[in-house]
Amino acid sequence: MIIMFEQLETAPPDPILGIGEAFKKDPNPNKINLSIGVYCDENGKTPVLKSVKKAEERILASEKTKNYVNPNSGTAEYCAAVQELLFGGGHEILASKRSVTAHTPGGTGALRVSGDFISFLKPGATVWLSDPTWPNHPGIFQASGLNVANYPYYDAGSRKLDFMPMLEALKKVPAGDFVVLHGCCHNPTGMDPTVNEWNAIAEVAAKQGWAPLFDFAYQGLADGVREDARGLSQFLAGGLEVYICSSFSKNFGLYNERVGALTLVADSESSAQKALSHLKRTIRTNYSNPPAHGSNIVTTILNDAALRKEWDGEVKGMRDRIAGMRQAFVNTLKAKGVAQDFSFLTTQKGMFSFSGLNKAHVDTLKEKYGVYIVGSGRINVAGMTPGNMDALCDAICKVLT
Ligand SMILES: Cc1ncc(COP(=O)(O)O)c(C=O)c1O
Repeated sequence: MIIMFEQLETAPPDPILGIGEAFKKDPNPNKINLSIGVYCDENGKTPVLKSVKKAEERILASEKTKNYVNPNSGTAEYCAAVQELLFGGGHEILASKRSVTAHTPGGTGALRVSGDFISFLKPGATVWLSDPTWPNHPGIFQASGLNVANYPYYDAGSRKLDFMPMLEALKKVPAGDFVVLHGCCHNPTGMDPTVNEWNAIAEVAAKQGWAPLFDFAYQGLADGVREDARGLSQFLAGGLEVYICSSFSKNFGLYNERVGALTLVADSESSAQKALSHLKRTIRTNYSNPPAHGSNIVTTILNDAALRKEWDGEVKGMRDRIAGMRQAFVNTLKAKGVAQDFSFLTTQKGMFSFSGLNKAHVDTLKEKYGVYIVGSGRINVAGMTPGNMDALCDAICKVLT
């Protein structure tokens, strides 16, 4: 037998999942986890949505088979529901059928299938990522054999979107390259472009001939399910091939069910169908068939008026709780006499914010106070609760003074 594992260097832990593992091992009863991007309710728990439970009850009662999903790119009902969520009912794209959707295991699965598809379409292509971005992005596209490059996104000094440098950089991206855009709730900064800024980016994409790839992992958690697609809608007028990676981990709370989708917008129905044939092939040689339970839940909820209404309300509840915690965090730090102004947090959207805390702050918060934050200073606001706010702000106050 040839011994090969022994010569391996141990791989570094994932920067975010590694923190989660360390948090689990920490015996401190008052520990606070603001690292991994998971929604928590006011009790610090990640709940199963009520609409999800009801859909599951219906599925349990009516399900007659565990046969493979057919076709392996997802059922027609699921794919139609995803497209309705992205484009809105009655959109021209739905009537012209110039869009296709493939059901993937989570948003990560959608990103990887898109990477493999791009690699087939244009071997060695370059995918442009915002600086900063979700730390998994470079690894996913590199694993597909693609090159990655960065465009400016965030100005740490002013704590604002670095819009003009971003636009100038996007004007230089060559035709045929790919640009990843966060649909809303930019991870990790929480800063999204305005509608006018989205419009300007879409104009540059059309003029330059690069393809936008939307990572849409938080639809509904910024301003509303439809409102959050405002950026995407600027790119749909025609002439552009658009990639959209949806995740239903956060907005449906279906993290461990692994449910997502890759939607491609093409210039015609026939181009879209050709692309779909390759997505099916990519899926077949990767995981062959998607996991069905999560997509059955999403389909059941989106296709039932009462469940859809209940889900809309639950997404609003998550959105409002996060916004409330942003405000409470800023107020509590101020009340504790922290000189630094954290009010920028209230203008950011979604679960994440760049707190401005540096590596030394992050290390001390973990070691002395059991507060876990990503090394970049990114905090998951959804990990804050009325119960941990005081202790959290006390700890931050101490490391800052
Ligand atoms: C920006 C971004 N994209 C994609 C994902 C992947 O989500 P999923 O868990 O559905 O694979 C995440 C999850 O944290 C994310 O933050």
